[in-house]
Amino acid sequence: MQSFLQYNPTKLWFGLGQIERLQQELGTPGKRVLLVYGGGSIKQNGVYDAVMEQLEWMKAHVVELSGVESNPRLTTVQKGIALCREEGIELILAVGGGSVIDCAKAISVGVYYEGDVWDIITRKAEATRALPLGTVLTLAATGSEMNNISVITHWDKNEKRGWSSPLAYPAFSILDPMYTTTVPLDQTIYGIVDMMSHVLEQYFHRTDNAPMIDRYMEATLLTIIEAAPKLIADLQSYELRETIMYAGTMAFNGQLSCGTDGGDWASHQIEHGLSAVYDIPHGGGLAVLFPNWMQHCAEEDPSRMAKLAKAVFAIQPEGKTEAEIAFEGIRRLRDFWNSLGAPSRLADFQINDSRIEELVHKSFMKPSVGQYKIMTRESVRDILTRSL
Ligand code: NZQ
Ligand code: ZN
Repeated sequence: MQSFLQYNPTKLWFGLGQIERLQQELGTPGKRVLLVYGGGSIKQNGVYDAVMEQLEWMKAHVVELSGVESNPRLTTVQKGIALCREEGIELILAVGGGSVIDCAKAISVGVYYEGDVWDIITRKAEATRALPLGTVLTLAATGSEMNNISVITHWDKNEKRGWSSPLAYPAFSILDPMYTTTVPLDQTIYGIVDMMSHVLEQYFHRTDNAPMIDRYMEATLLTIIEAAPKLIADLQSYELRETIMYAGTMAFNGQLSCGTDGGDWASHQIEHGLSAVYDIPHGGGLAVLFPNWMQHCAEEDPSRMAKLAKAVFAIQPEGKTEAEIAFEGIRRLRDFWNSLGAPSRLADFQINDSRIEELVHKSFMKPSVGQYKIMTRESVRDILTRSL
């Protein structure tokens, strides 16, 4: 194992009715709160009313920023920063999925930065101070509710950039699985693919002797694989939503990288380029790209893919080469996602090869891509071509 620090300051309130904890988290009455939400799902499913009831009880002064886009945009972050300054906001409350939370994280650090917050997002400047942030999660997918990462799109530049800061952890997150029972089928599938990708990308590390973490990851994947098909057939099930919601948070809150080199996030980097150009759902892009990334890597070194195939997809190794085991495992993963209804080709999003060079270029927004396998431009081009 490698030496590591395990640190996660986010207080997680999980379970039915936990919204009542919001009063306690607000602390003092009369707080000035920026309520950040998306395109209106929270008004249709009652979550907005439940949150407002708590805020009213605490006599909070509420300012609203609505309309946060899926794949949230810099312009909305800037709007939020201006509102915080004008209104003397003391706490940001994000109510929604990963997009809303990521937008709120960028607002929270941007308020105290004199220049353009894009500098922090592109890592040209460090965040030095942040407004406290609380979240009420309504979609199980990204893990943003318990990590310090945020992904923001500069639409005019077609750039989607991930950034992180020790200041970007939410102070508290409230997770009531009941709030996720209204997530539509497609977003439920994308969320499942996203959280599985987070585990898988961490799984592709090259650190020796990390059996505990490897088994945590295998257990997380097995749990999702068991629950997901049942949930797809029964979107209202509280018990299945509960399992998936907890899995999504644990998949990407730092614990699955303890002691390893952190894994390989090339697929995420390539996907961010894809959704920067085509504005497609993040989990949909991953469903297409990730098995092709695995295939590309396994052709060179199948060892880790074979381990996964045996541990998670119960592939019997007798009489097979390591490569055969690996390829069978990759096929099973692809079949599993397809069986849920996830897309398998870029053509499913009407994407062809016309902008492939631009997509290769967008994947290299960071100096290097990949760690389990360092990507060259040719490798990224190969993965994208296999995905068409
Ligand atoms: O906008 P509203 O009306 O709220 O509707 C949303 C949106 O249309 C809807 N939705 C959310 N909760 C719902 C609901 N509909 C009905 N009932 C509910 N309870 O779902 C749609 C998608 O929401 P969004 O927040 O965009 O999805 P997700 O949570 O998948 O977030 C995606 C964003 O997170 C980034 C992605 O790149 C993308 O920009 N990521 C963030 C990460 C992080 N911060 O750690 C890591 C991830 O890898 C990812 O890159
Ligand atoms: Zn993701």
